[in-house]
Amino acid sequence: MSRNAAVKGIVLAGGLGTRLFPLTRVTNKHLLPIYRKPMIFYPIQKLVSAGIRDIMIVTGGPFAGDFLKLLGIGREFGLHDLHYTYQEGEGGIAEALGLTEHFAEGDRICVILGDNIFSGEIAEAVGRFREQKSGGKIFLKEVPDPERFGVAELRGKKVTGIEEKPRNPKSKYAVTGIYMYDNDVYEIVKTCKPSARGELEITDVNNAYVRRGAMTWELLDGWWTDAGTFDSLLKANTLVHGTVAMH
Ligand code: DAU
Repeated sequence: MSRNAAVKGIVLAGGLGTRLFPLTRVTNKHLLPIYRKPMIFYPIQKLVSAGIRDIMIVTGGPFAGDFLKLLGIGREFGLHDLHYTYQEGEGGIAEALGLTEHFAEGDRICVILGDNIFSGEIAEAVGRFREQKSGGKIFLKEVPDPERFGVAELRGKKVTGIEEKPRNPKSKYAVTGIYMYDNDVYEIVKTCKPSARGELEITDVNNAYVRRGAMTWELLDGWWTDAGTFDSLLKANTLVHGTVAMH
C-alpha cells in the first residue's frame, strides 16, 4: 500500500442506547449533551482534526433524521459534505461497520464509536497507520474496570488476543473504540457470526487481524471514556468540562 493511502472516517452511532433509558426514549444517545456539544460532535471533530474529510455516519433507530438536522453537510466542522447510512436494528458494531463498504471504495478506514470521548489527538497515529503495509491498528488504555470492555492480552510488544468483557481480564488494557483497518475488514466482517448477545462483535474482527499477525497497537494519550451508561456519561461531561475550563 502506498504511503499516501487514503483513509476515510466512519463514526458508528447506531444502536438504541437502552442502557440510558429514559434519556434515550425520545432521542438518540449520540445526540445527548456532553458539556457544550452533542456527543457526536466529539468523534467527528477528532477525525477532522486528523485531516480526514471523507466521513460517513452510521446511525439507526427512530431518531435518525435528527442527525441530518443537527449536522447537515458538516459545515460547522469545515466539511463540504457528510455521508450517512442507516442500520436496521442493532446487530452490533461489526454489522454497522459492514454497512460502510461502498463508501470506503477500497480505501482504508478510521472508525470511532460515537460514544467514545477522549482528549488525545490521532493525527500522528493515522500517519503511522498510512505507513503500515496492511492490517489494522487499535488503541489501548489502562483502566481500573477492564471487564466493561474488550481487553487486550499482551506478550511483549504483541497483542496476542482480545476478549470481549471477560470476567477475569488478562490485563488492565481496554481496547478503546478507535480502530483503523485496511479494506480487508469488509471481508472479515462477512465471516463474523452473532455472539451470545446476538451481535456481530468488533472484537471478533480485531482477533482476525491478530491471528494474521497484522494488528498493531498504540497507547491512547490523555483521558478516554465511553459515555453509554449513566456513570460514564457523567464522567464524559466532567472530563470535557475540566478540559474546556483549562483552556
Ligand atoms: O467503548 C469501547 C468498547 O466498545 C470496546 O472496548 C468493546 O470491545 C466494544 O464491544 C464496545 O463495547 P460496548 O458493549 O460498550 O459497545 P456499545 O454496545 O455500547 O456500542 C458502542 C457504540 O457502537 C455505540 O455508541 C454505537 C455503536 N453501535 C453499537 C451497536 C451495538 C452501532 O453503531 N451499532 C450497533 O448495533
